[in-house]
Amino acid sequence: MQTSFQTTAIIGTGAMGRGIAQMAAQAGSQVLLFDNQPGASEKARTDLFAQWDKLLEKGRLDEDQNRQYKSRVTCANALADLSGCALVVEAIVEKLEVKTALFAALEEIVSDDTVLASNTSSLSITAIAARLRLPQRFAGLHFFNPVPLMKVVEVVAGLRTDPAVCTQLTDYVREMGHTPVQAADTPGFIVNHAGRGYGTEALRIAGENIADFATIDRILKDQVGFKLGPFELMDLTALDVSHPVMESVYRQYYDEPRYRPSVITAQRLAGGMVGKKVGQGFYRYDNGTAQVPAEPATPQVDEMPPVWVSTRAARRAELLLLLKNLGAQIETGQSPSPTALTLVAPLGFDVTTVAVVERLDPARTVGIDMLMDDATTRRRVLATNPATRSDMRDAAHALFARDGKAVSVIRDSGGFVTQRVVATIVNIAADMCQQAICSPADLEIAVRLGLGYPMGPLAMGNHVGPTNVLEVLFNMQTVYGDPRYRPSPWLRRRGAIGLSLLHVEA
Ligand code: NAI
Repeated sequence: MQTSFQTTAIIGTGAMGRGIAQMAAQAGSQVLLFDNQPGASEKARTDLFAQWDKLLEKGRLDEDQNRQYKSRVTCANALADLSGCALVVEAIVEKLEVKTALFAALEEIVSDDTVLASNTSSLSITAIAARLRLPQRFAGLHFFNPVPLMKVVEVVAGLRTDPAVCTQLTDYVREMGHTPVQAADTPGFIVNHAGRGYGTEALRIAGENIADFATIDRILKDQVGFKLGPFELMDLTALDVSHPVMESVYRQYYDEPRYRPSVITAQRLAGGMVGKKVGQGFYRYDNGTAQVPAEPATPQVDEMPPVWVSTRAARRAELLLLLKNLGAQIETGQSPSPTALTLVAPLGFDVTTVAVVERLDPARTVGIDMLMDDATTRRRVLATNPATRSDMRDAAHALFARDGKAVSVIRDSGGFVTQRVVATIVNIAADMCQQAICSPADLEIAVRLGLGYPMGPLAMGNHVGPTNVLEVLFNMQTVYGDPRYRPSPWLRRRGAIGLSLLHVEA
């Protein structure tokens, strides 16, 4: 089998090193395993063999492949045994000094044309390469956990990396059957940078007591199509892993407000409530099953008031059609009658501000999130303002639940849950394009494969409309006065002229 690297050494045979070794052997390389813990590489080899045996049982590989793969993997007793390798991939502890010391020792052993790579997820490739005699042969090769299942690999060029080295590594990733993406050496590379929006904005919403964890999870799964809600996801990843990543990216960008972590995760981490693995995270787990609080029941409303819709509502025509289909009595006057339920559908603004600006009676005003096309969602989200009467809130809840679709009622917030989270994700992605961290196409692939989002962040922006995303951000900046909602110039330009975020500039 023809492969870019005939012999690949893996240093550090923990969870990651083992997975990388599997992919390298399957790509056709001779693989040498090395670990500084006695017996660790032998154990990794045994585990790897068991893994292939399991795949054989499942019919995912044949006897011949199993034999060949196994014949390619050997253990090295000392670093000196790695002298003949064409590629060395390091997957040891995440400590800069330990990694630089290892590569300095390695450069004394391997030949000058051996390619060196690190699987680091948070250290700078340029910094690891700084003390190398030949830094141009060094690059990042960032796999995700579990390696065989996570199909994306970031190939990271440091300031001194030879582009030919990245090309070779990119080809090699393809030979492994994975998808390579090219990233500039910046904090978090692509996936861990693009992933900053989802959890941090959800934490901010929870921190403002707009809705509880379970409601925020339900809204984002049902309205946007995320497989896991942000709190379910953080419980699965565990806060001892995810909170330090949030802090690291934020600090490395010199306290950029867009990446600001939350005191909620800091406190929960300190308290040991880190997630599913300890039985208590944002949810409590009984025998591994999350105990999710039940949804509030749909209120019984005997007399439904007539409904008046603000002339400035987002997707107004669609909202009116929806109300008609739900059998609402729709008012058509210039202003609401004294008994009307008054509906507003702001983008980025809160219901309170809209009621004041449009001179509506706040006691009868309820907001609905119309950012997404109602036909594409499994849930509707309503927001009250502090003065909303309970009969008006209940009437709106019952009305929008008439066709059986789920309804959540949240407290007032600039931009509802979905608007805030989607706009934040799109804005961070747009800023990554502005910084030229990667191509828009690689960004989309990396996020879909690395984070499992239902669509890439730029496609998500297109789905709801780039101009709408921009409007949400501008208005949220006004409501919150917080620079974290400042639109990236990349998004501002495209949003202003309504251009697709996937449009390739001439
Ligand atoms: P791990 O703790 O499971 O394995 C690390 C292995 O390296 C251990 O077997 C240890 O004995 C060995 N080791 C430590 N120092 C060594 C040295 N100086 N020389 C030789 N062997 C040494 O760690 P894991 O999770 O496999 O991570 C390894 C690397 O991969 C880290 O840099 C981490 O940031 C990165 N990474 C981890 C991901 C994850 O989800 N676990 C995802 C992507 C990257």
